[in-house]
Amino acid sequence: MKAIIAAGGSGTRLRPLTFSSNKHLLPLANKPLLLYPIEAISETGIKEVGIIVNETRPAVEALLGSGGKWGLNLTYIEQAEPLGLAHVVLMAQAFLAGEPFVYHLGDNIFSQGIKEPFKTFEKEQPDALLTLVEHEENWRLGVPYFDEAGNLMKVVEKPEKPPNKYGVPGLYFFNHHVFEAFTGADKIKPSARGELEITDLYTYLLDHHYRVLTAKVPGRWLDPGKFTDMLEANTFLLQEKLAATVEGEVDQASILSGKVAIGKGTRIVNSRIIGPTAIAGDCLIEDAEVGPNVAIDTHCKLETVTIKNSILMQDATLIDLKRPLVDSMVGKNTEIWEENQANVSLFIGDHCRVRLT
Ligand code: G1P
Repeated sequence: MKAIIAAGGSGTRLRPLTFSSNKHLLPLANKPLLLYPIEAISETGIKEVGIIVNETRPAVEALLGSGGKWGLNLTYIEQAEPLGLAHVVLMAQAFLAGEPFVYHLGDNIFSQGIKEPFKTFEKEQPDALLTLVEHEENWRLGVPYFDEAGNLMKVVEKPEKPPNKYGVPGLYFFNHHVFEAFTGADKIKPSARGELEITDLYTYLLDHHYRVLTAKVPGRWLDPGKFTDMLEANTFLLQEKLAATVEGEVDQASILSGKVAIGKGTRIVNSRIIGPTAIAGDCLIEDAEVGPNVAIDTHCKLETVTIKNSILMQDATLIDLKRPLVDSMVGKNTEIWEENQANVSLFIGDHCRVRLT
């Protein structure tokens, strides 16, 4: 069995951060988003993984390399045009070479990994497995339609009035029969948004009487497409996954409470760190109150600051903030400092958000 991971796309809803950083490389709990699917695939024992990239290739390749670090053998596959999630499958046809496969979106996280649906697919050997989550806003997802006897009939992309509470997350399983959906008179066609839809692959297989099973995915599904989702996902991952470790220096005047991770080379001086909070290596935190739900990446400097529920990317500097910084994402190499409260002076890029509350 092989795996493919979609890591293309431009992440427009996460601008301005995605002007300079690929969406899949944005950090959650100080780990690039794409490493969550990589680790989930690695846990299944699959070795051969195709990474589908577009202009994201240099950044993705710099992060993952050959995949050896995760026990994987990675092949990079270019998708020249963003023609949809089903088109990604077609692009990977030569790589997949007729083997059954799992397809994981590169910006989705399954809190309990993907082992359970993977085992079901391996054991039952259906032609396809449709994974499902319960979701309040399933009108913005693919939705399964069942007949009265509970048999899966079709899968519809973003229906206006979903008939049930289920949605399809970014995890799909198929065997070689899926490629039939791209040939012949009744092949799948681009949708109104101009994309080949993943849901149409399932409907095609059902219409052609292939065996399609469904499996609920256990745990929480995170699909951090926009700023507030990123913060929510960061908080969840800190709460659920963070291991408390202190490798840096914490002086006598500082207090750590709750689950706190402090990386090597980081100095905590006269500060209070409230977990769950992760501070990566080589940071300086002085006269500050940090947490809960804060992830600070490497080489950040905080002096006289209170910060909660936030993500700071590498090399951010925050100095003398008179008010707490809350619910924020701060990009790499950004400086925020407050000299006096009379004026606000900004040197700020496109699509930024500044809310002085
Ligand atoms: C895509 C799929 C949809 C699926 C969703 C999961 O939607 O088309 O079926 O439920 O991913 O994130 P999109 O992100 O393109 O709106």
